[in-house]
Amino acid sequence: MSGRSLDGLRVLVTAGPTFEDIDPVRFIGNRSSGKMGFAIAAAAAAPGAATVLVAGPVALDTPPGVERVDVRSAAQMQAVVEAALPADVYIGAAAVADFTPARPATAKIKKRAGGDGLVLELVRTADILAGVAAHARRPRLVVGFAAETGDLEANARDKLARKRLDLIAANLVGVAGSGFGADDNTLHVFSADGARVLGPAPKTELAGALLDIVAERLQRPR
Ligand code: PMT
Repeated sequence: MSGRSLDGLRVLVTAGPTFEDIDPVRFIGNRSSGKMGFAIAAAAAAPGAATVLVAGPVALDTPPGVERVDVRSAAQMQAVVEAALPADVYIGAAAVADFTPARPATAKIKKRAGGDGLVLELVRTADILAGVAAHARRPRLVVGFAAETGDLEANARDKLARKRLDLIAANLVGVAGSGFGADDNTLHVFSADGARVLGPAPKTELAGALLDIVAERLQRPR
C-alpha cells in the first residue's frame, strides 16, 4: 500500500473456492486458487489492520498477521463470515458456489444408480456478499468481486447495484494471465460514481492498489 494505512480497522476477507459435496467422494468446485484473496488479506494485515481471512479449500500459506478460518462449503463460509461481523471492511474475493446439491448422498453414488446418465438436483446457495451488505451490522465498506467472461462493466455494475455494494472489482476469467489461478490480474473497479482500472499487474500489487481505494473511500465524509 502506498501510505494510507488501515491500521486499527477490522477487515474481513473471503478467498478461494467452495466445494459443494455430491457424496463422500465427489464435489462441485471451481478453479479459484485463493491467490487474489490471500494477497488482499496480506496487504491489509501488513500495515496493521486486524484481518480475518475466511478461506475455502486452497493450498496457500497464511499471510503473516492474518487470522485464518478454513471452510469447505458456501454454507460454512456464510456461517463463519456472519460470526466474524462486525467489521469495518468486507472484501468478498471468494468464488462461492451459486448452487449446491439438494441432497448430498451419505454413501458413494454407484454408477448403476444412474443407468446411462445421472441427474443432480441443485439448489441456490445463500448470497454471502448480499447478506453482509444488508446485515444489521453492515461494514462501513462492502467490496464485491465479479468474475466475468464478457460484458464486464454491465455485469459488474448490475451486481454492484443489486447487492448494494460500495465497490466491485471485476475481472475477466477464462483468459490467460487473468482471473482464476494466475499470478497476475487486471481489476476494473466500479463504484456508483466512478471506474478505475488496476493492472495488469501481479495480484500482490493489485491487492495494495485496491486497498488504497478502500482507504480513500473510508476517508470520505459519511
Ligand atoms: O482465487 P484466484 O485463483 O486468485 O482467482 C481470483 C478470482 C477470479 C476468484 C477473484 O478475483 C474473483 O473474481 N472472485 C469472485 C468470484 C465470483 O464468485 O464471482 P461472481 O461474479 O460469481 O460473484 C460475485 C460476488 O458475489 C463475489 O464477491 C462473490 O464472492 C459473491 N458471492 C457469490 C455467490 C454467493 N453465493 N455468495 C457470494 O458472496
